[in-house]
Amino acid sequence: MTLESAPESELPTNDPLTRTPAEGLVIDPVLDLIVDPLAESNKGSEWWRSAVIYQIYPRSFADSDGDGVGDLAGITSRLPSLATLGIDAIWLSPFFTSPQRDAGYDVADYCDVDPIFGTLEDFDRLEQEAHRLGLRVIVDLVPNHTSSDHRWFTAALAAGAGSPERARYMFRDGKGNNGELPPNNWQSVFGGEAWTRTTDPDGRPGQWYLHLFDSSQPDLDWSNEWVREQFREILRFWLRRGVDGFRVDVAHGMIKVEGLPDYFAPTLEDGEDANSMGGDAAAVPYWAQPGVHEIYRDWHQLLEEFDGDRVLCAEAWVQPLSKLANWVRPDEMHQAFNFSYLETPWSGNEIRAIVDESIEAFSGVGAPSTWVLSNHDVIRHTSRLALDSPPPQGAGLGPLSEPKPDEALGLARARAASLLMLALPGSAYVYQGEELGLPEVINLPDASRQDPTFFRHNGEKYGRDGCRVPIPWEAGTPAYGFNSTGESWLPQPSDWDDYARSSQEGVPGSTLSLYTAALRERRARGLGLGSVEWLEGYGDDVVAFRNGDVVVIANTGQVAVELPVGDIVVSSVALSEAALPADTTVWLIPRPEYDD
Ligand code: NOJ
Repeated sequence: MTLESAPESELPTNDPLTRTPAEGLVIDPVLDLIVDPLAESNKGSEWWRSAVIYQIYPRSFADSDGDGVGDLAGITSRLPSLATLGIDAIWLSPFFTSPQRDAGYDVADYCDVDPIFGTLEDFDRLEQEAHRLGLRVIVDLVPNHTSSDHRWFTAALAAGAGSPERARYMFRDGKGNNGELPPNNWQSVFGGEAWTRTTDPDGRPGQWYLHLFDSSQPDLDWSNEWVREQFREILRFWLRRGVDGFRVDVAHGMIKVEGLPDYFAPTLEDGEDANSMGGDAAAVPYWAQPGVHEIYRDWHQLLEEFDGDRVLCAEAWVQPLSKLANWVRPDEMHQAFNFSYLETPWSGNEIRAIVDESIEAFSGVGAPSTWVLSNHDVIRHTSRLALDSPPPQGAGLGPLSEPKPDEALGLARARAASLLMLALPGSAYVYQGEELGLPEVINLPDASRQDPTFFRHNGEKYGRDGCRVPIPWEAGTPAYGFNSTGESWLPQPSDWDDYARSSQEGVPGSTLSLYTAALRERRARGLGLGSVEWLEGYGDDVVAFRNGDVVVIANTGQVAVELPVGDIVVSSVALSEAALPADTTVWLIPRPEYDD
């Protein structure tokens, strides 16, 4: 069904062609589009190949109205500090209409802003200001599932079994004599069964629907052309508004194996998790199915309809990297998050191996490598890197976790790891707060937790709230300047004054100064478009390479490493002698004699 023939209620709301522009916005009178100076000036630049993309988690970034949840106006007011930091683009986690049962990854209207975050006009202002500051804007697209509050899903429930409305989702009859058993044995990533039984209008138990995540996130059926057409229009809606691209949620999950066969996970190794986002690349019938690729080819072409260089970034927990590379073939997406890199322990040998593997896999298909250490789904690397065996993704850390990360060790390693990451060629992702060295918040009371993972595991997994606590801006003020009322949707620790931006700005040696210097030098020296040339002779624990004129040395071991003669560009600790201590990284320009 084409969009034109879809019933009016299915159309995305707030089409830009019919809305009134927010005050101060420039609308091109001929095209009726928001004028986007960045798009016009940089056609063909492929800016994303080397971009540092800063992830904003809107509910925890800056709160302009003081209700304890961050919002778009708050983000806009803080954009200048991101421009000063030196990033190239922002990625906004979902701010769309949503009941917020999975912090916005449960979308009830893809083309509107949830009132807790503001309005579409607030978004336009944010985007305009970001572009004025030279920052690209990437929004989050959540196509694998909608919210159960989405009008498509409520219509599907009302329409009954066998209806076209139900065919947009994955409804199935149950097994057993009376359909009392779920259609297969799939488990939700968040814990528990991946199926929920519906109740028919007459009160009798009805069909089941699939949800790879929470029961409030029913999976769409992407074999249905109607679903595909809706999403084409959703993409166009945001592209017309001037966004520079999309981060695509669960980009490895949209197609399921025909017939929805049971899945029997292979015997798990220690630390592996049957409910993980990835699993064994070969066998999981809902992950990494070949059918997803035609969707991305379609979207790639759709992006080409628009001016400027727009980008698709895949959130695909696919291993090995040689397989993930299929997501970024020349006619598919442009980038894919490198979670294999994120999950690499602080070990010289393992880091060198994953860097080599990444560059080989991505460059094999002409895509840039990406690098990421933290995001809103994982334990912040400041804490994770201090643990020998961090809990699996999604499990989180909490008051009863043992051992607990050593904060000082974690911060040292995180600073070293970030400096190493920012020297690598390709595109790097920075998660809000990591430039402040924020640790995972471990002592959140159970009563404040909100991640469905916590509830669906009956509290046995802490979930992801610990990396989502609102970030500190100003020491000694209510909510550390997150807002002016002191409200915060997750409680902030009482000892965060030293992490606050105001405590670090312009302070030599602070984590913020480290990131600012690294981003400035990365840009000035073109490291994002450079290459890795390994330097030999440093031993297993040391990662040493040359990128352009910069020599990068990271010491993951315990023994200090002798440094070549050179001028230090930036280092993760102040170096007083020509030796690099444990858990530190340095960028330096070697003196000529070093080259001889
Ligand atoms: C991945 C997102 O990053 C995560 O936060 C979310 O819970 C799941 N996808 C489901 O949308």
